[in-house]
Amino acid sequence: MSGTRAALKLPRLLGNNLLLNSTSANSSSKILTDLRPAAPWLRNWSSSAPDTTAKQDKPAETQASTVVSSYWGIAPTQLTKADGSPWKWNCFRPWETYEADLSIDVTKHHKPENFRDRVAYWTVQALKYPTQLFFQRRHMCHAMLLETVAAVPGMVGGMLLHFKSLRRFEHSGGWNKALLEEAENERMHLMTFIELSQPKWYERALVLAVQGVFFNAYFLSYLASPKLAHRITGYLEEEAVNSYTEFLKDLENGKFENVTAPAIAIDYWRLPADATLRDVVTVIRADEAHHRDVNHYASDIQCQGNELKDAPAPLGYH
Ligand SMILES: [Fe+2]
Ligand SMILES: [Fe+2]
Repeated sequence: MSGTRAALKLPRLLGNNLLLNSTSANSSSKILTDLRPAAPWLRNWSSSAPDTTAKQDKPAETQASTVVSSYWGIAPTQLTKADGSPWKWNCFRPWETYEADLSIDVTKHHKPENFRDRVAYWTVQALKYPTQLFFQRRHMCHAMLLETVAAVPGMVGGMLLHFKSLRRFEHSGGWNKALLEEAENERMHLMTFIELSQPKWYERALVLAVQGVFFNAYFLSYLASPKLAHRITGYLEEEAVNSYTEFLKDLENGKFENVTAPAIAIDYWRLPADATLRDVVTVIRADEAHHRDVNHYASDIQCQGNELKDAPAPLGYH
């Protein structure tokens, strides 16, 4: 479960001793509950002499873990949901949640207009057919592996724009942030799917190989021509929309079981408590349509002779 994965991140922040305090913890909320009474004491202790009486009252493991936290002035945040229940996710916070724009047109397509567009379009088509042949209608597996690829372009583009901003001593128009937001959103799609299906060893090996090749290929293509790279991503996102439409069709006609939505998806997209996989795929498809529009727009800006920084980035969707 993601909760457990998230819980395991806490010790990285607070020191390995925290693991000793949570030997039976199965979720991040358990760890947060354990730490809640300790947090105020931590802050006091950091700015005053050690209280030996207090130390004697507490288990040795707690003392060790709180010393680390106290020293660096970092304490775990205590967050609650709107209904007052504890916030259980460390990988994202309540203010990062959002409602997907379901009114977005999922049928939009950028018709290739020039040689560059045709290169981008046929590159994606060439990648699409072997992928479809490999996965066929194994939607869950397809979606999971697709997301490991989909999260690459935003990170590469965002990283390169970040460095460009530093190198040129100029603003980026918010595009580095917008692209990094996209990468994080894609990663959250993946975190959602792994709640429903776990990759087999050969799928993990495939992801490793594909990431090695795709990251480098996209990095070089973005260095050579950002407008081509964004066009390629625009077409990749169009295909992502199409594959989620096929997923939805099979959920609707009963070929794929419409299971209960994972808790992480309900919190991330602010879905109703009784949401199902169909709702999750619907919001993910809306996200992909948004990425499609952002990347085609980014390519258009540059094709028209402008720089990305000249047009304010579409920030704030995710
Ligand atoms: Fe995605
Ligand atoms: Fe996407």
